[in-house]
Amino acid sequence: MQRLEGRIALVTGAGSGIGRAIVKACAGAGAAVYVTDVDLAAAEAVAGDIKAAGGKAEAMAMDVSRGQDVSAVFRAVDQAHGRIDVLVNNAGLNVRSDFRHMSDADWVKIREVNLDGVVRIARDGFELLRKSQRGSLVNVASIMAERGLRQLTAYSATKGAVAALTKGLAVEYASFGIRVNALAPGFVETALTARALKNPGIQKALLDSTPMRRFGLPEEIAAAAVFLASDEASYITGAVLAVDGGMSASL
Ligand SMILES: NC(=O)c1ccc[n+]([C@@H]2O[C@H](COP(=O)([O-])OP(=O)(O)OC[C@H]3O[C@@H](n4cnc5c(N)ncnc54)[C@H](O)[C@@H]3O)[C@@H](O)[C@H]2O)c1
Repeated sequence: MQRLEGRIALVTGAGSGIGRAIVKACAGAGAAVYVTDVDLAAAEAVAGDIKAAGGKAEAMAMDVSRGQDVSAVFRAVDQAHGRIDVLVNNAGLNVRSDFRHMSDADWVKIREVNLDGVVRIARDGFELLRKSQRGSLVNVASIMAERGLRQLTAYSATKGAVAALTKGLAVEYASFGIRVNALAPGFVETALTARALKNPGIQKALLDSTPMRRFGLPEEIAAAAVFLASDEASYITGAVLAVDGGMSASL
């Protein structure tokens, strides 16, 4: 029996990078998956790959910063299945700027996706997770929740809030059979990071502070997400799991 056999999983921002790897890993572990993204074409391509590999997938457009989108998707899932077993808050972005020059619009954009989106999904998804009776909410935070780097300050603030939110929700949702955990990935090459990680100076500085001396793969983050989502993690709630090649452990 596969680890997520018979489960219904929904991943946000699943059209690219880490979200794509997570939704594919959930499908590979036997879940029927909802591939959601603000970019519907990207979500459809991922759902197509999963179906071609024999999995069950449906693509849906969902901008996590729009309440109407989230309600519409949850309504559709409720009608189809009446529950969600695995809900992964993965959608995220950054707008690079030095903090002292950051516009209000850029701050709002970062916050609306990275934090308000997570808050909305965790709140509006509660009823569907409760109906699962073994619901697992996985938030994708970041090593940056506890670190500072130039042009990532606002991003860090949102990720720190997601880590704190994870602990509060773990306490509030435990009596409803819902576990809530977060992943704190280190640096992984995706559309979000490709440009920075290809910069030789940044690359060297980051690899020098990563004991394993390499960046992570989206599939390595996805493996941890499937673990947290599965019954193997049945006594784990409120954890923020570092998946970072040792970066957060090192001085
Ligand atoms: N790549 C890294 O090194 C790294 C490290 C730590 C944490 N993370 C986190 O992992 C998550 C995924 O990042 P990634 O690196 O795969 O980036 P990515 O840019 O490859 O993927 C992000 C996905 O989110 C989608 N998205 C953006 N805004 C959205 C919105 N409003 N609603 C729904 N979907 C939206 C994008 O279309 C895209 O498909 C993010 O939360 C990011 O902060 C990434």
